[in-house]
Amino acid sequence: MRTQVGIIGGGPSGLLLSQLLHLKGIASVLIERQSREYVLGRIRAGVLEHGFAALMREAQVGDRMDREGQIHDGFFIAHDGIKERVDLKALTGGNSVIVYGQTELTRDLYEGRDRLGGSVVHNVKDVTLHDLQSAHPHVTYRHEEELERIDCDFVIGCDGFHGVSRKAIPKDRIREYERAYPFGWLGVLSRTPPVSPELIYAKHERGFALCSLRSQTLSRYYIQVPLTDSVEQWSDEQFFDELKRRLPPDFASALITGPSIEKSIAPLRSFVAEPMRYGNLYLAGDAAHIVPPTGARGLNSAASDIYYLYHALVDHYEKGDDRGLENYSNKALARVWKGQRFSWWMTTLLHRFPDGSGFDQRLQDTELTYLFSSPRALASLAENYVGLPF
Ligand code: APR
Ligand code: PHB
Repeated sequence: MRTQVGIIGGGPSGLLLSQLLHLKGIASVLIERQSREYVLGRIRAGVLEHGFAALMREAQVGDRMDREGQIHDGFFIAHDGIKERVDLKALTGGNSVIVYGQTELTRDLYEGRDRLGGSVVHNVKDVTLHDLQSAHPHVTYRHEEELERIDCDFVIGCDGFHGVSRKAIPKDRIREYERAYPFGWLGVLSRTPPVSPELIYAKHERGFALCSLRSQTLSRYYIQVPLTDSVEQWSDEQFFDELKRRLPPDFASALITGPSIEKSIAPLRSFVAEPMRYGNLYLAGDAAHIVPPTGARGLNSAASDIYYLYHALVDHYEKGDDRGLENYSNKALARVWKGQRFSWWMTTLLHRFPDGSGFDQRLQDTELTYLFSSPRALASLAENYVGLPF
C-alpha cells in the first residue's frame, strides 16, 4: 500500500504522531508488533508536562485526561527522616504537572485513532526498512502470514528501545551514548488509597523509594533493588515492609497496603542515539533515547520529539518548507540531552550506589542540603521537572 508517512511502533509516540498528522490531512499507516491488549497492559509512568497535555488536546484526545488527570502543584523529597516539599507552582511562576497514567493515555490515543478511522495494524512480524536514503523508502512486514509492503515518503521509527528502526541505521552513521546504573526499580501497583496526595521521592541508606499514584484508589510504589533481584523474591508483604523502612515515620505509619495487581523490575539506563535521522528515516521517543525514570522525563522527552516532527512534516506537506525536517535531529537532541542531564542528576541525588565511596555519599548529602537552602537551586529543579519549553 502507498501512504505519506509510515510509522513503526504503536506506543504513545507513534499513536500521537499519526493522530496529529491525520487531523492535518496527512496520511499515515502505523504498524505495531504486539496486540492492542498487550500494549494496553503495560504499566508505565504517569507524569505529564503541560506541553504534552496541550499536544493531546490538539490531537483531540485530551478530554478524559482533563477530566481524570490530577494537577500536581508540588512533590516531596524525603530524606533523613524528614520530608521537604518542592512547590512547583511557586517556584515556576504557576506551572505544575498532570498525573495521568501512560496506560490511560495510550487507551485514549487508540480510541482517537478508531474514531478517525486511522490505519493501525497490530501483530506484525519481520518488520524491515528499505531504501531509507532514497526519496522512496519502503517498509515490509508479515501480517497474518501475508507479506505486506508500505511505500511512503518518510519512515518514522517510534518502535522503542528494542525496535528495528534504530538498528536499520548503519553502525558508522550513528553514535550511541549510554550509562547503565547498578540497580533497578521494583514497582508495585495496588488498589489502595495513596499514602500521600503528592508524590514522595525518598532517599534512604537502604536505597531509593518512590510513592506515586494513579487515582484516589490506585497507588504506584517503587523501591530501588539490586539488578540481581527477581520479582519472585519479593512477596507483597516484603515489598511494603521495605518501602516503609525507607519512608519518614509519619508516612510509613499512614501507608495502607494491599495485594499487588502488577509487580515488575525495570533496570535504570540512560541512552541517546545521534543523529535521530538517517536519510528519510526519523527516530522519535524511546527508539532514540532512554532515561532512568527518576525525573519522569521518558514520556515527556518522547512528546517533544513528536512536537518537532509533527510541525516539520506539516511544513513539508503544506508549505514545501523542509527546514524543520533538516533541523529535526539537532532540535530534538538539544532538548533530549537536557532531559538526560536532569534524569541523571535526580537519579544520582537520590539513589544508593553500591560502589559509592564515603566521599560520594557526603557529596550527595551536601547536594540535598544545598538544594533546600537555595531557592535558586530549587527553582532549577522545578523548571526541569515541569518541563523546559519545546
Ligand atoms: N515493529 C513494530 N512495532 C514495534 C517493533 C517492531 N519491530 N518493535 C517494537 N515495537 C513497538 C513496541 O511493541 C511498542 O508498542 O513499538 C512500541 C514502542 O512504544 P514505547 O516503548 O512505549 O515507546 P514510545 O512510543 O517512544 O513511548 C515513549 O517513553 O520512557 C518512555 O515509558 C515511556 O514508553 C514510554 C516512552
Ligand atoms: C509513576 O507514577 O509511575 C512515576 C512517577 C514519577 C516518576 C516515575 C514513575 O518519576
